[in-house]
Amino acid sequence: MVLRIIRAFITVVVGCMLLFSSGMASQRSITELRTIDLQCENLTNPLGLDKLTPRFSWRLLAGDRGLMQQAYEIRVATDSMQLVEGKGNIWTSGKTMTDQSTYVPYDGPRLQTATKYYWQVRVYDNFGRISPWSDVAYWRMGLLNATDWKAEWIKQDPDLQTAEVTNPIFRHEFKSRKTIKSATAYVTSFGFYEAFINGQRIGDAYFTPGWTSYANRLQYQVYDVTTLVSSGNNAIGVMLGFGWYKSPLGWGARFNSEIKDREMALLFQLQLVYSDGSTEIIGSDERWKQHVGAIQHAEIYDGETNDARKEPKRWMMPGFNAAAWKPVMLAHHGKNMLVASESEPVRRREALKPREISQTAEGDWLIDFGQNMTGYVVVNVAGRRGDSIVVEHAEILDQQGNFYTTNLRTAKSKNVYVLAGDGEEQFYPHFTFHGFRYIRIKGLSAAPKVSDLTAFALYSDMGETGTFTSSHPLINQLQKNIVWGQKGNFLDVPTDCPQRDERLGWTGDAQVFGSTAAFNMNVHRFFVKWLKDLSLDQLENGSVPYVIPHVLDDSVSSGAAGWADAATIIPWQMYMAYGDKQILIDQYESMKGWVNYMNNQSTDFLWKPGSRQTADWLHYTPQHFLDAAAKSAFTSSHLIAQSFFAHSTSLLVKTAGLLGKQEDVVRYSDLLEQVRKAFVAEYVTSNGNLISESQTAYVLGLNFDLIPAEQVPGAVKRLVQNIEDYGGHLTTGFLGTPYLCSVLARYGHIDVAYKLLMNERYPSWLYPVTKGATTIWERWDGIRPDGTFQNPDMNSFNHYAYGAIGDWMYTTIAGIQSDSIAVGYKKSVIKPIPGGGLTFAKATLNTYYGQLVSDWRLTGEEFQLDVVIPPNTSSSIHLPATHAAQVTEGGKPIANRDDLHAVRVVGKETIIQVGAGSYRFTVKESAK
Ligand code: BGC
Repeated sequence: MVLRIIRAFITVVVGCMLLFSSGMASQRSITELRTIDLQCENLTNPLGLDKLTPRFSWRLLAGDRGLMQQAYEIRVATDSMQLVEGKGNIWTSGKTMTDQSTYVPYDGPRLQTATKYYWQVRVYDNFGRISPWSDVAYWRMGLLNATDWKAEWIKQDPDLQTAEVTNPIFRHEFKSRKTIKSATAYVTSFGFYEAFINGQRIGDAYFTPGWTSYANRLQYQVYDVTTLVSSGNNAIGVMLGFGWYKSPLGWGARFNSEIKDREMALLFQLQLVYSDGSTEIIGSDERWKQHVGAIQHAEIYDGETNDARKEPKRWMMPGFNAAAWKPVMLAHHGKNMLVASESEPVRRREALKPREISQTAEGDWLIDFGQNMTGYVVVNVAGRRGDSIVVEHAEILDQQGNFYTTNLRTAKSKNVYVLAGDGEEQFYPHFTFHGFRYIRIKGLSAAPKVSDLTAFALYSDMGETGTFTSSHPLINQLQKNIVWGQKGNFLDVPTDCPQRDERLGWTGDAQVFGSTAAFNMNVHRFFVKWLKDLSLDQLENGSVPYVIPHVLDDSVSSGAAGWADAATIIPWQMYMAYGDKQILIDQYESMKGWVNYMNNQSTDFLWKPGSRQTADWLHYTPQHFLDAAAKSAFTSSHLIAQSFFAHSTSLLVKTAGLLGKQEDVVRYSDLLEQVRKAFVAEYVTSNGNLISESQTAYVLGLNFDLIPAEQVPGAVKRLVQNIEDYGGHLTTGFLGTPYLCSVLARYGHIDVAYKLLMNERYPSWLYPVTKGATTIWERWDGIRPDGTFQNPDMNSFNHYAYGAIGDWMYTTIAGIQSDSIAVGYKKSVIKPIPGGGLTFAKATLNTYYGQLVSDWRLTGEEFQLDVVIPPNTSSSIHLPATHAAQVTEGGKPIANRDDLHAVRVVGKETIIQVGAGSYRFTVKESAK
């Protein structure tokens, strides 16, 4: 009884406090307020930052509806114990009144090189609570000055190299005389490195130091290797491979011919801190030794040769007799181009076992892993010394079931393993990767067992953020294919494809897929890094190369409309998805450079590019000359160029506005007006017809707001008519496809958009799914309806571009969008539009504030929507109801509620503003 009275009293007091502190929810539950997921520069406990004002982010945790942060307090110290005791802060933010919980910049004394900092945060909320101080998080600064590098660049003596044996191994021994408190390794190389201490691999990242514009910058990685170093004797071993630095790149004859003069080199610095506080640096220098190891030769396209007989036994261990090894040579690269790593580490992710093992007529073994992917296969094998096995890779089997590699063009994608003959051996390549679903193994004396083969997917480990599911199995498979396409092609840079002699950072592909990518995974840092290389490789005149890093030839390979616009489009996509203005600040000059380039190339604001254009790449093409309508799938490359000229300019205007660059706002707004006028004068007839009667032409004109308002209805009609003329099919290529369904939805033709999405016949998104695709194909008809393959010169089965429909699936089917002002989902818009016969759809998205969920189902006339809105955010919920009285939340009417705000009916929608929390809305007799 007494307890009950006390409880009632507390409830009343807390209730009063709540009413007092905010005018919000009456139905909220009171839970403890905490802060979790502390991130510094969007990383958990990063090692090696070179930003002097790193930014902090955290999430609030509590189950209350309407939870908002009202203030934060951060403290930073160099000693974690002292921090917890609230002592020894080098900086504290003090109580700062704001609801900002992302990208709060450090503002204390100058951060010191190679120093570890600890930090905590606590927050105050709108219910008057203070969270406890968070768990301690940390970050370590990188080497901030070139002079902090005491190690020297080392390289192989070229005399030790032959055409067949190109890869060096380096080793060095050192003694630690005292007890080690901590050991930190700073490592980079020209070429790939894999490094070991006492035989144990340093870190779990692959293809380090990553791919950047090598002429301008090279990343180094920082590792905590305390547990690898022992007291007494220690050995460092490092293997180098060509990597992206020295592998021939580009299709056919290859483009980067200068690589023959390039030499791989290593820079390795180990900083030991002893328990008595003294320190010692062990660095690469002329005392290190070199030899050749098992890996004879490896390059990106052709694969790796590994002769296990050549591996000096225990060469990575202390005490190894290196008398026969030669001293290394010093290399003279300097240290000024070194930057702390921004790459999301490429890691081994999914492990797949064979789904089927069969023998070919020639006696080779054919293995199907059931999933097109990027990575490699680990093979366990036993045999005689000197026996060799060959592992080849393919994406697909031909109509007769044969291993098919013609579409890899000149890429051999083949690994050769020579056995040492000492029992069970394990092989996998170290300095190459493959795009494959099938492998063929030659040289095995007996059938391989399932347990002997494991395929590992390798990709930038960005963390999956989004999921999408629906009542339609083929759409669900499409989503899986989109995600696997992303995994297969986000390998340190966004590549077009992972298998043939290309695998390059094609700008156009990246921009069409950027916003879809940002739903599926956290691509924030991935694109921040790549965009920096884009600006560095941008030409003097502002033109942007086809591929980044730029490994092609300047004269023929830049300035393609829709490709070069990656310079403006991707920064904007990332800003919208993650709310990080810094991307716009960093990329601003590059964005402007590209717009200026187009302007400089144009005559009277009309840009008709002279350079090679890729136009609406791989749009539908007629199979037959009688296919008269097919000519209407072609879009003038000049019309496309003008459309993107306008689009990039409009993004620049918005960016200039956000960054407070008023002069530029005026200047580029004027330019935009002229560019639009020129578009209309040149490409739009007085009835709203475009000179290219294609879906892409109308989609671009409408999506980029280039068609005058009075002509829009006519243009929309033409677009819908065109789709009908093609029997309800899309005909768009890379550039029209991403916007097709959203333009149809925007102009009231959601039914047509769904029709396109649900279409299972070629050309359509689901057609490849019906053909068993497990990734997105480069072409709508990689496998033609008659079962034959498209032209092998351009027929990848793992190209993510057409997966750009994923954005529409998240934003329109599931209805998750960010508010366009409170970007990065600080405020979300949940606006699902059911259709296409779907009875349910659900998407989840891990934002920087927490998980956002939109989950709807249709039962007869009843529409039910479950949403979860993360703490410290708000949302605008759009429901298909023409009267608020049709709607309930949690089984109760929505009128006069403290937790539901500003209910209004606009057209066929009821719109409700909500704060954080979980809600269930039900609409009776929903308006469809
Ligand atoms: C690539 C594409 C790219 C295109 C542009 C191709 O070879 O694979 O994805 O965008 O070239 O020309």
